[in-house]
Amino acid sequence: MGRPTPSSSQNSLTVHDNRTGKSIEIVIEDNSIPATSFKALSAALEKGEREENETGKGLRVSDKGFLNTAVMRSEITYIDGDAGVLRYRGYPIEELALHSSHLETAYLLIYGSLPSSSQLKVWESEVMHHSVVHADAEQFFRSFRYDAHPMAILTSAFAYLGSYYSEANPSLQGQTLFTKGNPESLAVMDRQIYRLIGKATTLAAMAYRVRQGRSFVTPPTGLSYTGSFLYQMDHLGEENYKPNPILEKALDVLFLLHADHELNASATTVLQTASSLVDPYSAIAAGCASLYGPLHGGANEAVIRMLISIGSPANVPAFIEAVKKREKILSGFGHRVYKTSDPRSFIVRKTADEVFKITGKDELLETAMALHEAAMKDEYFIKRKLAPNVDFWSGLIYRAMGFPLDFFPVLFAVPRVVGWLAHWRQMMLQPGGVKIWRPRQIYVGASKREYVPVERRIPEEGSRKTPSQISHSGISKRTMLATFKGAKL
Ligand code: CMC
Repeated sequence: MGRPTPSSSQNSLTVHDNRTGKSIEIVIEDNSIPATSFKALSAALEKGEREENETGKGLRVSDKGFLNTAVMRSEITYIDGDAGVLRYRGYPIEELALHSSHLETAYLLIYGSLPSSSQLKVWESEVMHHSVVHADAEQFFRSFRYDAHPMAILTSAFAYLGSYYSEANPSLQGQTLFTKGNPESLAVMDRQIYRLIGKATTLAAMAYRVRQGRSFVTPPTGLSYTGSFLYQMDHLGEENYKPNPILEKALDVLFLLHADHELNASATTVLQTASSLVDPYSAIAAGCASLYGPLHGGANEAVIRMLISIGSPANVPAFIEAVKKREKILSGFGHRVYKTSDPRSFIVRKTADEVFKITGKDELLETAMALHEAAMKDEYFIKRKLAPNVDFWSGLIYRAMGFPLDFFPVLFAVPRVVGWLAHWRQMMLQPGGVKIWRPRQIYVGASKREYVPVERRIPEEGSRKTPSQISHSGISKRTMLATFKGAKL
C-alpha cells in the first residue's frame, strides 16, 4: 500500500525551499518520511555552477554512516538505545537468556513465534541433521596456511558452501526463487536455513582444527547445538567425550545473545548483498566479512589485545588518558544505538562468573574491571554516553574457555548467521518484492576533462605516485626478478 496523498490536516511535514520559494508537503507515516519526496525540490543551476553537482536533479538526502536512515520495515528485533532495551520478536532478551536456548530463539527470530514442542523437535532435528559437510570440504580447508585468520577461512567457507547447492542459486533457478512465497519456494528457503545454521558450527570447527593441525571430526548426534560445536572442536578420540555442561550452557547463552541485533553493519551488508537476489550463501559470506572488522564483531578480539597491552590495573589511568587524547580506542565501549549500557553486557558479565567457577578467573579480569570502573566515572565517557557493549566481557569468557584469541569473532559470526537469515527471509518475503539497494552519491570529482595523449601529459599537482616512485619494498621478489629478466608476467 502506498502512502496517502498529503493534505495539510494530516500528519505531515511542510518543506519550504528558500532557493525557489517552492513548498512541498510530505506525509509522515510510521514516524518516517520517504527520502524520494525531496527529489521534487530542485533549483536551476547558477551561472558558472558545475553541472556535476546535480542541483537541477532534485535534492539528495545525505546520511554518511546511515545515522538516521531507515531502509526496512522490520518485525524482528526492537532496541531502545536510551533505555537499554533489547527484544527479539517482542520477548525481552533477559527472559530469553534465562529460559530459552539458542536454537529455540533462532526459530523465534526467523519464523516470528516461539515453536510448539513438536515444531521445536522438527526444527532442532532438521538443523542438526544438516550439520555434515561434503568430504571434499577437507581439501578446501587444508588449502589455507597454518596462520590464516579463522574469519578469513569462515568467510570463504560460506561462499564455498554455496557452490554445492545449485538448487538455491537464483542465477541458475530463476530470480524469483526465494520471493514467490509459495510452498515450494518456502521449502527451498527452509532447506538453506537448516543448512546454513547446521553447518555454521561445522565450518567454524574445521577452521579451528585446520590451524591446530588436527584431523576433522564428523558432527556427532544427540548433542545440543553448542555441545556438538564443542565436540567438533575439542574431541581428540577420547571414549565417551562429553563437553562440560556448564561451558556448553554458557556458550549457548552467548550464542542466543549474539543471534540478532537488528540492522547492524553485517545484517545491512547481508541485505545489501541479497538485494541483488544473489544466493543466501554469498550473502552470508558478505555479512561474515563485514562482521570481521574491529568496530563490529572483531571488537571482542580487540578488547583482549587492548587488555594485554594495558597489562595491569596500575596502567589503566594512563590508558584512559591516551583514549581521551584520541591516541587509543577503548574497544568494547560505545555503540551506535545504545546510549547506556548494552543490556547484553550484564548477562555476559554474569555468565563470565559462572564460567570462571569452572575455569578459574582470567588474569585480565582485574584490569578489565579497573578499566570499566575508571571509564564509567570519567567525564569524557559520561558526556558521550559511552558504556560497555556486548564485546567488553565476552572475550574474557572465550579466553577462559581456551579459545584462541583470533577465533573470538568466529564465536560471534556463527550465532549471528541466525539473525542474518531472519532478515534475509523477511526481505525476500516482504510485500511488494525486493528492490535492489542502490544508494546515491554526492559527486565532488572533476568536471568534464579532455583526454590528452600520454606523450603530451604533464603530471598534475597532487596526482598519485607513478610506479617508478614506489619503493621496491612494495614489489615482490618474484615480480622484480621477472621484470629484470624482461620476462612477461
Ligand atoms: N573509545 C573512545 N571514544 C569513543 C569510543 C570508544 N570506544 N566510541 C565512541 N567514542 C567517541 C567518538 O570519538 C565520538 O567523540 P566526539 O563526539 O568527541 O568526536 C563520540 O564518542 C561518538 O562516537 P561515534 O564514533 O560518533 O559513534 P558511532 O556510533 O559512529 O560508533 C562504535 C559506534 C561502536 C563504532 C564506536 O563506539 C566504537 O568504535 N567503539 C569501539 C569498538 C567496539 O567496541 N565495537 C563493538 C560494537 S558492539 C557489537 C557490535 O555491534 O559488533
